[in-house]
Amino acid sequence: MFAARRAFSGALQTRAFSASARDLSKVTVLGAAGGIGQPLSLLLKLNPRVTDLALYDIRMAPGVAADVSHINTKSKVTGYDPTPSGLAAALNGAEVVLIPAGVPRKPGMTRDDLFNTNASIVRDLAKAAAASAPDANILVISNPVNSTVPIVAEVFKKAGVYNPKRLFGVTTLDVVRASRFVSEIKGSDPADENIVVVGGHSGVTIVPLFSQSSHPDLVGNADLLKRVQFGGDEVVQAKDGAGSATLSMAMAGARFAESLLKAAQGEKGVIEPTFVDSPLYKDQGIEFFASQVELGPNGAEKILPVGKIDAAEQTLLDACLSDLKKNIAKGVAFVAENP
Ligand code: NAD
Ligand code: LMR
Repeated sequence: MFAARRAFSGALQTRAFSASARDLSKVTVLGAAGGIGQPLSLLLKLNPRVTDLALYDIRMAPGVAADVSHINTKSKVTGYDPTPSGLAAALNGAEVVLIPAGVPRKPGMTRDDLFNTNASIVRDLAKAAAASAPDANILVISNPVNSTVPIVAEVFKKAGVYNPKRLFGVTTLDVVRASRFVSEIKGSDPADENIVVVGGHSGVTIVPLFSQSSHPDLVGNADLLKRVQFGGDEVVQAKDGAGSATLSMAMAGARFAESLLKAAQGEKGVIEPTFVDSPLYKDQGIEFFASQVELGPNGAEKILPVGKIDAAEQTLLDACLSDLKKNIAKGVAFVAENP
């Protein structure tokens, strides 16, 4: 009986292994030599689902690639020079493209203060992706996410290759933080704390829904709410001018990429929070919104509704929607004015 069970699980493992071995997944990181890019590249090199890792930056990507390539996992790692042909080669054939290129905050800045620098960086990388990897899943990390995601959408629309199911603003760090902060209060394992966070990725647009967790008593906890909404500021202040979250963000980005790859390879019920082209508030003129999204071979397969929330959370959501609308419009206007 035990032997039979062992044989059965062995057969399953063999099948799972050969299925994943068949899948070739090229993952590209644009901004791979940065504070996020380097640990993110490291984590992707450790992911057996990634077979080809392409690293691009305006500086030092070949160096990061040489370093990461010595790690003894099977994937091939290539660093690309900062030339148009290097960028095109990095993107060609990619299934997943992660974009952490751009400048981070310093103390006293909002994410929106990064717009002037990062909008054009993201627009140009999006143009290259639209040309060389039009079918890839594009994961935008560069801030302000609430505006950079619409920028990528506009560029892809102009190029005639926009697929709303394959564009994602990475908001995973917000739920990673929320689960960690809750576990610190409750003395629990963060892995058991599933805190839904909706809206966008900056200040009051980050809306945690504690009423939907196993701790509805946390809804009125102002300190916790502030930590979740302004967790990024904690890191910016602690780094004191040397940047913002990089290591926790690399973990969050790697988690999102892994979720996409496993959903693409057929795993069912893979749900992640992410800022996507969403029907949820389109009637209020809001084209993008972060909520729980079921991932699958086509990217964002199903956008889950916000569901039942507390009156206090509704007030937070109203404030979020008002800011979000302006952030999205700013990204759209940027591409119209600076094509
Ligand atoms: P960083 O300055 O350490 O690294 C950015 C990298 O981008 C650098 O290596 C730089 O050379 C590269 N770069 C700049 N222009 C480029 C271009 N045109 N093409 C390719 N690469 C280019 O910054 P960081 O700490 O890694 O942060 C990167 C971005 O991620 C920032 O905008 C930051 O605000 C954002 N961020 C987002 C989240 C999130 O939750 N979505 C979390 C943390 C940081
Ligand atoms: C974060 O949430 O840590 C990032 O968006 C970086 C920042 O500027 O706070």
